Amino acid sequence: HRVLVEELPRAQVMVVSNREPYIHNHSGNGIALQIPASGLVAALEPVMRACGGTWIAHGSGSADRDTVDATDRVRVPPADPAYLLRRVWLSEQEQNGYYYGLANEGLWPLCHIAFVRPIFREEDWTQYRRVNERFADVVVREASCDDPVVLVQDYHFALLPRMIRDRLPKATIITFWHIPWPNAETFGICPWRREIIDGLLGSSILGFHTQFHCNNFIEAADRFMESRIDREHASITFGGQETLIRPYPISIEWPPAALAQQAPVRDCRDAVRRRFDLPSDMRIAIGIERFDYTKGILDRIRAVDDLLTRHPEWVGRFVLIQAAAPTRSKLGPYSALQAEAEQLVSKVNARHGRDGFEPVRLVVRHHEPTEVFELFRASDMCVVSSLHDGMNLVAKEFVAARDDEQGVLMLSSFAGASRELSEALIVNPYDTHGMAEAFLQALRMSVAEQRDRMRLMRELVRERNVYRWAAQMLLDAARLRQRQRITSAN
Ligand code: F6P
Repeated sequence: HRVLVEELPRAQVMVVSNREPYIHNHSGNGIALQIPASGLVAALEPVMRACGGTWIAHGSGSADRDTVDATDRVRVPPADPAYLLRRVWLSEQEQNGYYYGLANEGLWPLCHIAFVRPIFREEDWTQYRRVNERFADVVVREASCDDPVVLVQDYHFALLPRMIRDRLPKATIITFWHIPWPNAETFGICPWRREIIDGLLGSSILGFHTQFHCNNFIEAADRFMESRIDREHASITFGGQETLIRPYPISIEWPPAALAQQAPVRDCRDAVRRRFDLPSDMRIAIGIERFDYTKGILDRIRAVDDLLTRHPEWVGRFVLIQAAAPTRSKLGPYSALQAEAEQLVSKVNARHGRDGFEPVRLVVRHHEPTEVFELFRASDMCVVSSLHDGMNLVAKEFVAARDDEQGVLMLSSFAGASRELSEALIVNPYDTHGMAEAFLQALRMSVAEQRDRMRLMRELVRERNVYRWAAQMLLDAARLRQRQRITSAN
């Protein structure tokens, strides 16, 4: 696109997110590098590798401070530096209030319909505002011009767009909200609903995964703000400034970097079978995600229980490998989920286990992308049973991992990805029996049908990859910048 080519090289691109793309930790053998389990990182990192620029994020690794220079910067990826990572250090009080408190006990359950009650504490709000201000200071300090393109990421930074706008009025601010946006009635229970919407309306463009979430946001702005809504052009004008509200379905890089290091599917299967001590005819389902109550992990284990109860012919012939990365473990609902999952797994294994064989294997630890891809390639199916999810990139990664065009994707209708991957077996995670039937359908699906479905899904993910996601946003931003230049010249 001409407009991109003309506009972007002139612009400084900055990303702001809570989670950093590379975490350095002390380990027995010196400093170990970790890539966090985060859809946001999986999507944006390849874009930054391609464009360069500055990524501003919270430094969270035990060895992070040992790798930065005097200005808290480090060039990454470590093996082949392409952009700057500017780390911001937070105190325990800030981290507790801003990240654990307001973001993950307040906004996370508020925006996801998973029936966990959101908690709103005044002290958390104070810390949330304070951390947003601190990041605004860093953005202004890192800006090398008065009109950078700033990509603000997620619900940790709802106030940041307004704070940047006040100090860099000519900046192009694109904010992407990686989680769902609920209906106005639900959002209205937040005591700071006006401040949050006001903060987001500091953006030039505000993006969500789906049109449905855009509509919900527009409804909330209509109900709680004195703003002018233009539904035809999907824009909101507030305080004399216009914000475009747009759907940008997020995706993954194609082909994924982790795929290059993979052995042939047959070898992956052998390796995983050996690791889990499984016979060669064992059928394998894989579930992999952060250990989060929105992901429907308990629900899929209950469905396995139901499957093996109703269809005992699969006992000893089918296993669910559930990999779950510990996350936000300080918070009650997260530690409770882990305990409940462990109990449920023991119960199901006691009920259906035979001669030392256990049908559910729960592996609670972080997996690096290459390990995740090996599991995907070793499996017969991948289960994504989120109770509610903005997009869910695990579904797209599974599809990308299967260059043999085999494997079945079971996908929750409450994940944004189900709008695009309609050849998956679409399930309702609240319907245990329905999900057990879907397991059965997957187990019985012919090689030819798997291929037909997988081909269509792979075509879609290949085409709608993360570069297209980013290019679409940047293209809209470039058009805005050109329009603004023309208007200000007149
Ligand atoms: O994609 C949603 C998201 O909340 C990202 O913002 C975040 O990076 C990811 O999930 C993982 O969560 P956390 O950063 O809290 O570990």
